[in-house]
Amino acid sequence: MMVIHGDIKMADLIMGDINILAIIQRLNIPLGFKEKTVSEVCIEHNVDIQFFIQLTQSYRDKDYFPKDHFLTFPVEWIIDYLRNSHKCYVEHRIPTIEKQIIELENNIQNQNSSELLLRFFREYIQEFNTHIEIEEKIVFPYTIEINKSIKDNQLTTTLKKRYSNYHIEDYVEAHNNIEEKLYDLKNILIKYIPPPTTNCKYNTLIFDLFRLENDLKDHSDIEDKVLIPKVHLLEKKLKKLKMEDK
Ligand SMILES: [Fe+2]
Ligand SMILES: [Fe+2]
Repeated sequence: MMVIHGDIKMADLIMGDINILAIIQRLNIPLGFKEKTVSEVCIEHNVDIQFFIQLTQSYRDKDYFPKDHFLTFPVEWIIDYLRNSHKCYVEHRIPTIEKQIIELENNIQNQNSSELLLRFFREYIQEFNTHIEIEEKIVFPYTIEINKSIKDNQLTTTLKKRYSNYHIEDYVEAHNNIEEKLYDLKNILIKYIPPPTTNCKYNTLIFDLFRLENDLKDHSDIEDKVLIPKVHLLEKKLKKLKMEDK
């Protein structure tokens, strides 16, 4: 395992693993690094060096997930990162795949099976959007309200009004694996409805599905292993405040 540290040149790090670009983008770091090191770039763009290193290391090495270390980072950083990932999926990655499936439809002999593929994917998009909406409109704002209440040492009005009966466990129970269906879709394309061999662009479709599936696994890991435990800790602290508020 290559250990990432602050003195590595940022450009070298990315050249060594192009997937790291996803993290760079989600942390709102612009490209154009010249000879700058990881530390220099992070400082310049107000990104915590350790946060960057831990995200990158766990993204590169699937056996590495420093849960305890992640739990020490402010919850706002985690939420910003997750929100930026959502934005990238919804605005770019999913529409790109949808476009490729529509194009595929014009090139597959069997019209029924291509319609089926498109329908399958569009159902998936709906499910995907609902999943993200719950996180964006309920879970993240809830987390921010608890965090604020603890910081200010008093319950925020929004928390009292909107979330008086809400617990993060409600989300835990409903949080499903949104990457599973992508695996199915990839499987259908490889095993049953092969795209035409005359055009190499359909490899891009399978490759994009594969990349999104892996990316979503990492994303869910951060939600399940960092965000949720973090909120559990916050809820414990909140309990005390709630008692005092009565
Ligand atoms: Fe998410
Ligand atoms: Fe999720």
